[in-house]
Amino acid sequence: MKIIQRGAEAILYLEHNKIIKERIKKSYRIPEIDIEKRKYPTRREAKLLQEASKIIYVPRVFEMDDKNMKVIMEYIDGKRLKDIFDNLKNRREICSKIGNSIARLHDNDIIHSDLTTSNMILKDDRVYFIDFGLGFISKKIEDKAVDLHLMKQALDSKHYNNSEESFKLILEGYKASKNYNEVIKKLEKVESRGRYKARV
Ligand SMILES: Nc1ncnc2c1ncn2[C@@H]1O[C@H](COP(=O)(O)OP(=O)(O)OP(=O)(O)O)[C@@H](O)[C@H]1O
Ligand SMILES: [Mg+2]
Repeated sequence: MKIIQRGAEAILYLEHNKIIKERIKKSYRIPEIDIEKRKYPTRREAKLLQEASKIIYVPRVFEMDDKNMKVIMEYIDGKRLKDIFDNLKNRREICSKIGNSIARLHDNDIIHSDLTTSNMILKDDRVYFIDFGLGFISKKIEDKAVDLHLMKQALDSKHYNNSEESFKLILEGYKASKNYNEVIKKLEKVESRGRYKARV
């Protein structure tokens, strides 16, 4: 078993082409609260990955274990988009695919809540979305607008040389959404308020 990432919330292991994402105990929390804080994202991640797998590229879920706080999923043997984004030759095309996938998620009322290039993997020109632990289900136009806004903030902070153009292209792809006009109108409002902060 090989550790591929040790984050603040989770440790990720790679074993036989499977990723094990284990949410780790925080000893400073009261044990009962700690269990709840790890159980819900674990369940949510598995559930939303399963839902999303019907409409976009995501890793397949093999197992969810909310006693040991583990989600076992398919290993996507690609490149983390964050690491290659700025030098991608076909960035325009990839951005449009990202926008299209976000539109599909939103049309199915799935809000990701942490849309960044760190949470996308590129493999064979397909963009896989990962890290649904903060996601939720909502029909609200505002939730969809905020989701896009966080994507924009993530681009501004990690890919400032091309963030404006990239976000425009993502919105081109997002035109596939049935609620495109409403969401864009709300996005303008959300931006003018400027009180949403991405976790970047
Ligand atoms: N299914 C997968 N296939 C390949 N690599 C993966 C997969 N899942 C995660 N990774 C790699 O591990 C990294 C961290 O995974 P993820 O984003 O799910 O966890 P995290 O950001 O630590 O979670 P949290 O948001 O709870 O802090 C990703 O950026 C990616 O490089
Ligand atoms: Mg992540």
